[in-house]
Amino acid sequence: MLIDETRAKLKETALAMVAPSKGILAADESFGNINKKFEKLGIPVTEDNRRAYREMLFTAPDIGKYISGVILFDETIRQNASDGRTLVKVLNDSGVIAGIKVDEGVEKIGDTAETVTKGLEGLKARLPEYVALGARFAKWRGVITIGEGIPTDSAIRENAKQLASYALLCQEVGIVPIVEPEVLMDWSNTQEVCRAVTERTLKAVFEELNNAGVAIEGMILKPNMIVPGKESGVVATPEEVAKATTELFKQILPLNLPGVVFLSGGQSEIEATANLDAMNKLGSFPWKLSFSYGRALQASALKLWAGKAENVASAQEVFIKRAHMNSLATLGQYTGE
Ligand code: 13P
Repeated sequence: MLIDETRAKLKETALAMVAPSKGILAADESFGNINKKFEKLGIPVTEDNRRAYREMLFTAPDIGKYISGVILFDETIRQNASDGRTLVKVLNDSGVIAGIKVDEGVEKIGDTAETVTKGLEGLKARLPEYVALGARFAKWRGVITIGEGIPTDSAIRENAKQLASYALLCQEVGIVPIVEPEVLMDWSNTQEVCRAVTERTLKAVFEELNNAGVAIEGMILKPNMIVPGKESGVVATPEEVAKATTELFKQILPLNLPGVVFLSGGQSEIEATANLDAMNKLGSFPWKLSFSYGRALQASALKLWAGKAENVASAQEVFIKRAHMNSLATLGQYTGE
């Protein structure tokens, strides 16, 4: 059982993460992921380039106006900016909370296409160091794959159990867990199939969170939106995405959940903004609906930066524009580019 003081602190942090007009930047790409992005753009893959790229994002003027928190990768939480401050301090000095990705990626269940997430072993021992380094929230991503005959109930259940175990360990040391059960948007399925799979997934996740005794008021949910799979070639309108997603949430999400921060999952930058905006245009909900985008906040900025110091200011401008547009979308006030 969590003591009342810990619960109150978790709730305060969770509410700050979804403060009105703010959302989260997911900058927690693993080595494999960020290096692949660099290679694609011809950016030399070095530790210092990863550091410089994150410094470019975190020192963007006005970041604290639109971004409540940034999810960091293990390497980044230990790095310094060129002025000697830690990158965590750079964020904190702009009023931005630092978070840490604590999962270690996914591994296949046998030779199936389904996965579980690595990193639970030893997690309890790793968390106090992240607290000392300044992390106030964490992220764990479970992946649910749609395909022929999948997801199976057992894969959904195992991922839900892992998310609950992770969330409880975080809360015990005062870290707000971002619980991310990502139903992938890649296959040829309809929007209805995405809805049904997301329903099975979220039901299992909240059952396991409750079974484990996780304080719902001290966590944030990071789900996918309800969209047709990319390979279907069908693109739903923002209004269709908003309706399907919020109707499902109204059935499943507990009223004391402070907020939902969506992943972008391969949607374009503008799609991700327009879809979030359409949800918030439907009115207000018991939980805040905000963003925790990786690609949809960074894609254009990374391309423009391209590893060159002379591009820092223009890349920052592009990043802040996306942050600003998504900030408007959290209020249902986005009117286009
Ligand atoms: P995308 O917004 O690029 O999907 O990334 C968000 C994230 O953190 C996935 O774990």
